[in-house]
Amino acid sequence: MKKLSIVMACMLFLLSNVLLAQNKYVGAAKCKMCHMAKGKQYPQWSASKHAKAFEALKGEAALKIGKEKGIASPSTDAKCLKCHSTAAAAGALVDGITKEEGVSCETCHGAGSAYKAPAVMRNKADAMKNGLILPNEKLCVKCHNSESPTFKGFDYAASLAKIIHKNP
Ligand code: HEC
Ligand code: HEC
Ligand code: HEC
Ligand code: HEC
Repeated sequence: MKKLSIVMACMLFLLSNVLLAQNKYVGAAKCKMCHMAKGKQYPQWSASKHAKAFEALKGEAALKIGKEKGIASPSTDAKCLKCHSTAAAAGALVDGITKEEGVSCETCHGAGSAYKAPAVMRNKADAMKNGLILPNEKLCVKCHNSESPTFKGFDYAASLAKIIHKNP
């Protein structure tokens, strides 16, 4: 019994360290500082539907879908927010990101608290060690799938072309 509680205590200690070490979501405004000019990543994202994914939950179409599912307020319901707002789905790991950002930089590139520092960012290997993700189709289909009430299929190449934000 005593042995077991020591094991449990060790596990809790390890778990709390893991949680403390976890990166936090800092918000797109932090990425904007550096990703405005060269590859225009910020303005391109701002103009995309991803940036308006939270807003979409307040529209008439969303209310109608909600009604059919017995969800009175889609913009405050976890069942809708989980794909429409990263901040709302991130729980305690939020530090600067707002739910209004919807599907934002860190949804796809990983929580940025550790990789956003200039010295880390400039070195791709370092950035990736610190949580930067360069996503592929696997990430997209976490949301673009038949669990989405409006899903009509997902063509990766065509969809990527719509949101591409490459450096020149
Ligand atoms: C202090 C400036 C700065 C901040 C803040 C910053 N970045 Fe960067 N980032 C850079 C630089 C410099 C590079 C190197 C490539 C380039 O020049 O675009 C880079 C590269 C990247 C890359 C491409 C990595 C590769 O080499 O393929 C991604 C993705 C990225 N940043 C995402 C983000 C996200 C998301 C945020 C916000 C959480 C962010 N960055 C914040 C400066 C910054
Ligand atoms: C966290 C969930 C999530 C992830 C991950 C995600 N998306 Fe989306 N995406 C959405 C939501 C929600 C919308 C609808 C936003 C709206 O219309 O207001 C959307 C809309 C889009 C649209 C616009 C659809 C149209 O009809 O024009 C494109 C294109 C798109 N996503 C491409 C991608 C690609 C490519 C990836 C992967 C690199 C991706 N998405 C990853 C949630 C996600
Ligand atoms: C599994 C992820 C997921 C869930 C859960 C989800 N959505 Fe979506 N939603 C998406 C994606 C991805 C899109 C983009 C179009 C598509 O492929 O369905 C979207 C698009 C929409 C649109 C169209 C927006 C536009 O610009 O026309 C509305 C409205 C919407 N969702 C409402 C809701 C509501 C309401 C709920 C909760 C009942 C919900 N969604 C739950 C992923 C999701
Ligand atoms: C829906 C997912 C998604 C969102 C949201 C998103 N990105 Fe990306 N990003 C990608 C994908 C996918 C790629 C890689 C595309 C490729 O080269 O195949 C990429 C590539 C990049 C690159 C590398 C460009 C290059 O030429 O090497 C940078 C920098 C970047 N993103 C920054 C950002 C910033 C900053 C934001 C927010 C303002 C953002 N991204 C939002 C999916 C996303």
